[in-house]
Amino acid sequence: MKIRAVLFDAYGTLFDVHSVALLAEQLFPGCGDKLSVLWRDKQIEYTRLITMSAAPGDEARHYLPFWDITRASLRCAAARLGLTLLPAAEEQLMNQYRHLSAFAENHEVLKTLKRRGVSTGILSNGDPGMLGVAVKSAGFADLLQHVISVHSVRRYKTDPAAYALGPATLGLPAREILFVSSNAWDAIGATWFGYTTLWVNRSGAAPEQLGTEPTFTGRSLRDVLDHFPASAQPTRPTRST
Ligand code: LAC
Repeated sequence: MKIRAVLFDAYGTLFDVHSVALLAEQLFPGCGDKLSVLWRDKQIEYTRLITMSAAPGDEARHYLPFWDITRASLRCAAARLGLTLLPAAEEQLMNQYRHLSAFAENHEVLKTLKRRGVSTGILSNGDPGMLGVAVKSAGFADLLQHVISVHSVRRYKTDPAAYALGPATLGLPAREILFVSSNAWDAIGATWFGYTTLWVNRSGAAPEQLGTEPTFTGRSLRDVLDHFPASAQPTRPTRST
């Protein structure tokens, strides 16, 4: 089976969500890492809470764009850690989140994929506004053909309606798209949806224990390139199991 395109998760995969920890540490000495981790955990928890909950017949009533969820989760995380988040500090952290650093190898990988003629895009929980700024400030604007946001369906990954945007936009079956995520849960959700998946496990984390593995597992975004070799004859990469 041939893989014809690649879709990347954005936050955590292309953009380092924990690059905010440095500023968080300056603002709250001794708590930077803890705040960054709890902020991210709350953000993802809120996406699930919002997507899964609604009164009957009142679908997605609680939907909030990812930017608003990001702010709400920062406020909650700070409060849970007993930190006083003044408006100026909140703005500083949110502004940092708007311009997250990309992981070091990503620009080169995206450039190489473009050179090899591979169709690439993002499929993210991020709303179009924040994705647009992040993509531009990382210098990725010319390197990605599609920036797909779940905002149009008002449901967050791992909801099937969110993952369905990929095949619908690319006009390809999910199994012919390599979905790349550093978030283990996202790689599993996409695998269950039917994508061919690559979990970029940068930190060497233990895998999920749900009886499903991503199709492939790697350690950096460079592992994507194995699936789109420069030569005309694609080779088959080794499975992760
Ligand atoms: C995203 C979240 C999962 O970019 O980080 O979709």
